Amino acid sequence: MQMKPDQTQHSVIHARITGTGSYLPGAPVSNDDLRTRGIDTSDEWIVERTGIRARHLASEGVTSSDLALEACRRALEAAGRLADEVDLIVYATSTPDFIFPSSAAILQRKLGIRNGGAAFDVQAVCTGFIYGLTVAEKFIRSGSHKCALVVGAEVFSRILNWEDRGTCVLFGDGAGAVVLEASEQPGILASSLHADGSYSDILSVPGQISQGLVTGSPFLQMDGKAVFKFAVKVLAETAGEVLEAAGMNTLDIDWLIPHQANIRILQATAKKLELSEDKVIVSVDRHGNTSAASVPLALDMAVRDGRIKPGHTLLLEGVGGGFTWGAVLLKF
Ligand code: ACO
Repeated sequence: MQMKPDQTQHSVIHARITGTGSYLPGAPVSNDDLRTRGIDTSDEWIVERTGIRARHLASEGVTSSDLALEACRRALEAAGRLADEVDLIVYATSTPDFIFPSSAAILQRKLGIRNGGAAFDVQAVCTGFIYGLTVAEKFIRSGSHKCALVVGAEVFSRILNWEDRGTCVLFGDGAGAVVLEASEQPGILASSLHADGSYSDILSVPGQISQGLVTGSPFLQMDGKAVFKFAVKVLAETAGEVLEAAGMNTLDIDWLIPHQANIRILQATAKKLELSEDKVIVSVDRHGNTSAASVPLALDMAVRDGRIKPGHTLLLEGVGGGFTWGAVLLKF
């Protein structure tokens, strides 16, 4: 019998998450702690509008790659892999250690990998991990790489204006990582990435370094109401895109893991998707908005507390500065 060529010569390579890890620096800093530090705010205001109860702030001198290192060690341990087996590092951050080298290269060194594979940073702000996961998936599915670390790690506390109570209470520091491996079993089922630079002004850090000086502002600025409207709209749209691409619908989702910016964005997105709030993983209350780290942090927490189990269908979503947004649908 004559077989079709793709049945005899090539089996399809899938990209599957085989381990997760996360790390939050230091003790939680509560909303009341912020008041004690002189910020004119209240626990009631922050909880009611954002759902945030605490965040973690890295000590002076602790960098994004320090947090990434801990998250990656935990992800590698969960996957049963050694650092030397990693042939690709995709590192999402808006708060890199330096202008260069990349935080990915620094992380590679800290992991003790010599003469490793590719390592590079991805800059898509709060959508960074979704971008990174999608890029790594394409490397793995092409057959060029077999074992990737995809990490989102941020020290957002460094780019906050602590005089601006409208933004400084919203963000925190942290890292989350996954090991993504070539597999015969389906893992990532569909992904979708978008950007629209015409919305860059509603969330930005519009500073530059030139001739040793910062020009513009090195602090985060945001039009909160505009961000809210935009985020809910695109998170619902991009969820629809990946579900359609995989021939699935909302009922097939075991867990929705959206970017952890604000509880009200999460609730509004679930409502738009007609998805029960019980199926939404929420961790923003514990660590605030950690930008590119937020999705892998929420993922790892729910894996470790036993809610997410092998075989579950997960919808991961991000939205952030740029504006950027996207989603990844996967079998865990
Ligand atoms: N504590 C107490 N009062 C505050 C604080 C604070 N931390 N911050 C602002 N206020 C006051 C303001 O001064 C203002 O007072 P006034 O009426 O006397 O002038 C009042 O609260 C309302 O201020 P607004 O900025 O209009 O507050 P709003 O109701 O829009 O809530 C928020 C702000 C929570 C940021 C809201 O716009 C929102 O949820 N936006 C979504 C965007 C978001 O979550 N961004 C996160 C990052 S973006 C991302 O990750 C994609």
